[in-house]
Amino acid sequence: MKVIAICGSPRKGGNTEYFTKLALDVLEKEGIETEFISLRDKNISECTGCYACVRERECAIKDDFQEIFQKMTEADGIILASPVYHASITPKLKSLLDRAGFLCRWVTNEMFKEGENSYDWKGTAFSRKVVAPITVARRTGHTFAFSQLLLWATVNDCIVVGSHYWNVGVAGAGGQINGENDKEGIGIVEHMAENMAYLLKRLNSNLVEEEI
Ligand SMILES: Cc1cc2nc3c(=O)[nH]c(=O)nc-3n(C[C@H](O)[C@H](O)[C@H](O)COP(=O)(O)O)c2cc1C
Repeated sequence: MKVIAICGSPRKGGNTEYFTKLALDVLEKEGIETEFISLRDKNISECTGCYACVRERECAIKDDFQEIFQKMTEADGIILASPVYHASITPKLKSLLDRAGFLCRWVTNEMFKEGENSYDWKGTAFSRKVVAPITVARRTGHTFAFSQLLLWATVNDCIVVGSHYWNVGVAGAGGQINGENDKEGIGIVEHMAENMAYLLKRLNSNLVEEEI
């Protein structure tokens, strides 16, 4: 089992990275392989709405998207993490999710099926992947950014993991890197990771039982 975490912060070692790596540490302790992917140095253009992926089943824009999309399709779990920028996720993460979210359905479905019901969906490239959002803000705006990630996961046939509170961190007043002060946020994110490990193990054991 493998969980990848995609971090949309442009800051190396920032607060979002801090909370995301807490979750990955818990997953590693649970015996789950993890990979941290920062979008900071990645070149990911925005979706141009060309609709080429509908027919070609690949994105027409060639940049770092292909490598990350491949990792997303191979992972069992995906953590999507972003600092809150004007109550939203960061633009690069939005670009990735726009392109991944559109492509993932045309890998498994056809938009233009003659004589058949276009709404006869066969899931997506991300069907039943376990997804957890994390957002980090200085003060407020989590709700909208967190919802952006939730809406992306739930329209793409993913299973969402929560905690005993929304998976958010509060940090970064004046640009500080001080996530370690948010004791409640640390507990929330760590419990989310425990839930993710629990769910992945249950899903995996069910698969084994079915095969028997
Ligand atoms: C362009 C920009 C917009 C921001 N907008 C918000 C906001 O809407 N609400 C908020 O509470 N903090 C906002 N912040 C603060 C960051 O969310 C906060 O400092 C966060 O901890 C940064 O995470 P990072 O260290 O991973 O980059 C903003 C910061 C920047 C640079």
